This record gives sequence, structure tokens and C-alpha cells, in this order.
Amino acid sequence: MNEYLGSLVNLRIDGRIAAMRAALKDRRDPVCADETLQYLLFTVRCLRPSHILEIGTAEGLSGAAMLLEEEKARLTTIEIDEERYRRARQNFASFGLEGRVRCIPGDAADVLPALDTGYDLIFLDGPKAQYINYLPELKRLLRAGGVLFADDVLLYGWVDGSVPAPQKRHSLVGRIRDYLAAVTSDEDFITSVLEIGEGVAVSVKRG
Ligand SMILES: C[S@@+](CC[C@H](N)C(=O)[O-])C[C@H]1O[C@@H](n2cnc3c(N)ncnc32)[C@H](O)[C@@H]1O
Repeated sequence: MNEYLGSLVNLRIDGRIAAMRAALKDRRDPVCADETLQYLLFTVRCLRPSHILEIGTAEGLSGAAMLLEEEKARLTTIEIDEERYRRARQNFASFGLEGRVRCIPGDAADVLPALDTGYDLIFLDGPKAQYINYLPELKRLLRAGGVLFADDVLLYGWVDGSVPAPQKRHSLVGRIRDYLAAVTSDEDFITSVLEIGEGVAVSVKRG
């Protein structure tokens, strides 16, 4: 039975997206772990979101995968790096998804307050040290019953202390711990922290 525990092997990542992700990994560009993307897509399949928000587009591959998983979904995604923003737009267009995506260049801290509420799913995958600062805006933007999916909340075991964090990462680790403490103690959220990839915190907004 053990081989089935935690398994999402029958949820396949689109072949083109898998190949593009492999190329990014070879270049050491940021991409989430395969199992994180699988669990994100599993969440999309369960939730069937109409409106998705992503913080940290990178090259748009998780965004594209989510839109391919749920054909009625629309994506708003924010990226601070101009070159990645440009490549993400090209990638969305190459999948024929440009009509379903609003790519916003800029710093999420500036962009989030200008967005309207009503997202069904928020994929939080931008600067980890800022998660705690973004949380009030993300809570405002998420509809009741919506899901806040935060990646990299355990970071190599540094956050739960199972692996000692290097000195220069102590501040980052403290900020992620602040996020986990805030979201798990917030009565408006039900949160599950899972050892998937570098750790995900999946929070459902009560309503
Ligand atoms: C881990 S990557 C995102 C990966 C992407 N979500 C995916 O799964 O393919 C994080 C991204 O956040 C972007 N980023 C960093 N700081 C940001 C900020 N303040 N506002 C918006 N994006 C930011 C980085 O440039 C980087 O592309």
C-alpha cells in the first residue's frame, strides 16, 4: 500500500510544460518542484476556480498549467523581473492562453492593493520574506471558500528546524515562520501545512 501514500502519479503535467520546466531547471531558473505543481493542479481540479491570482509568474509555466487544467479559469499574475515577465507573455501566447491571462509587471507589494477582491485560488510563490506582509491583502482578495496556496514554507527543513539554516538565512526563516504562525492562528483560515516539495501551506478561507 505504501507506494500509493501521497501519490499523485496519475495527474500528468502537460508534456510541453514538463519539457520547458526541465529546460528552466537546467538553467537554474526558478520553478516549483514537480510534486508541488502536481498538488497545485490537484487543488485546481478540486476547486474548479474561475479566477486565479499568482504572485511570482517567473516564465508562466505553473500559470499555464493551471489554465490548461481548468478551461474556464482566468489568471492574474504578477512578476517583478522584466525579462521573466516578457518571456512569460511569450509562453502564454505560445499556448494560446493570452486571452485568459492578465500579466502584471511590477512589485506585488504595489500591485496587490490595486486589485479587486473575488479570487477563488491564490498561488503565493513570490519573495518568501514578504509572505507575511502580503497576508492581509491576500485575505482581502480571496473569496470566502477560496484557497491560499503558499509554496516554499519549509525550505530544506530550515523552517521546522530539522536542518540547521545557514546564518545568512535566519532572517528569511524567521519571516516564513511569522507567515505560518499568522496564517495558522487566523480564525478566518483553516490551514494544512504539507511536506510537499519545499513545503506548502494550503489555507481555506472560511465563509
Ligand atoms: C519561485 S519563482 C515563481 C515560479 C512560478 N510561480 C512557477 O511556478 O513557475 C518566484 C518569482 O517571483 C518573482 N518576484 C520576486 N520578488 C517579487 C515581487 N516583489 N513582486 C513580484 N514578483 C516577484 C521572481 O522574479 C521570480 O520570478
